[in-house]
Amino acid sequence: MLQSKKSSNKNLQKANKEKNDEFYTQLPDIERELRHYKEHFKGKVVFCNCDDPEESHFFRYFALNFEQLGLKKVITTHFEKTKPSYKLELEHDLNGDGKINELDKFKTPLKQNGDFRSDEATEILKSADIVVTNPPFSLFREYVAQLVKYDKKFVIIGNQNAITYKEIFKLIKDNKIWLGYGFNGGAAHFINKYYVDYATASNHKDGMIRVSGVTWFTNLEIQKRHEDLILYKVYNETEYPKYDNYDAINVDKTKDIPCDYDGAMGVPITFLDKYNPEQFEILGNLGSYAPDGYSLSSSIFINGKKIFKRILIKNKKLGAAK
Ligand SMILES: C[S@@+](CC[C@H](N)C(=O)[O-])C[C@H]1O[C@@H](n2cnc3c(N)ncnc32)[C@H](O)[C@@H]1O
Repeated sequence: MLQSKKSSNKNLQKANKEKNDEFYTQLPDIERELRHYKEHFKGKVVFCNCDDPEESHFFRYFALNFEQLGLKKVITTHFEKTKPSYKLELEHDLNGDGKINELDKFKTPLKQNGDFRSDEATEILKSADIVVTNPPFSLFREYVAQLVKYDKKFVIIGNQNAITYKEIFKLIKDNKIWLGYGFNGGAAHFINKYYVDYATASNHKDGMIRVSGVTWFTNLEIQKRHEDLILYKVYNETEYPKYDNYDAINVDKTKDIPCDYDGAMGVPITFLDKYNPEQFEILGNLGSYAPDGYSLSSSIFINGKKIFKRILIKNKKLGAAK
């Protein structure tokens, strides 16, 4: 029996509640995502600012691929709750073996604790080109706000729910950030030594926590967001009813978006995984718990039945054809 979505979401809620952000991303998951971004790293300084360098597979990934990617430098900072920490860097062939790899890393103490918001970490951030990490989910809003403030490129892991946070939704709507390629089935297995995984046989992985609804967020160009979603369904009033309280049709599954509907459509938030800004325009969101100017209606209903959060979109290509 597979672990239910509900129970894995509970895992995350529990983690959030306890502020237990000590999950580590697996190297194959990092490789699977970052292979789509290779051309962006040439000559760049990469900063992993939420990474215990001893545990982080992000640092490992960049150390293993330093030359292949043509990187200029990799910096990771270690976070300590209450004491000064350190940073680890990789830039030159220090041991003179003709290669730049993990053996060439060098450690420097920090005066502060490596918090991504600390002055020292902020100074490193300013000097970096691309930030790549899995930041604490509990600080996601603040984390992204800092990247935007310093105009940094990034590839980071976050929870899909973050899409409807007003600060994040605004960036998505304005095409300033988008979703990366993501995890198989939208769920990630993170390394977590302290977590007892109750998932049953087929889904259980020792020392791992399974978290559903996890994805990659980025502002680096990727091919995926220029690919049209193939639409094959035709609009009809029965299958696509309008909301009782908002002038838009409801679409329950992204793959069922009708090819010929020229008005506003409410689609599930998973639509963003297929979003191509040349094909669709995001108008706002519906049913979000936090009305914010982008949330066009805080609750939506069809025949009195409440419908879950939706993103409101419009097919740009149909509009343009008129
Ligand atoms: C979800 S874990 C991911 C770790 C690592 N990026 C990875 O994927 O392997 C988040 C990491 O952020 C660190 N962290 C927590 N609060 C932080 C803060 N304020 N500043 C920097 N790092 C922080 C935690 O210690 C933890 O190592």
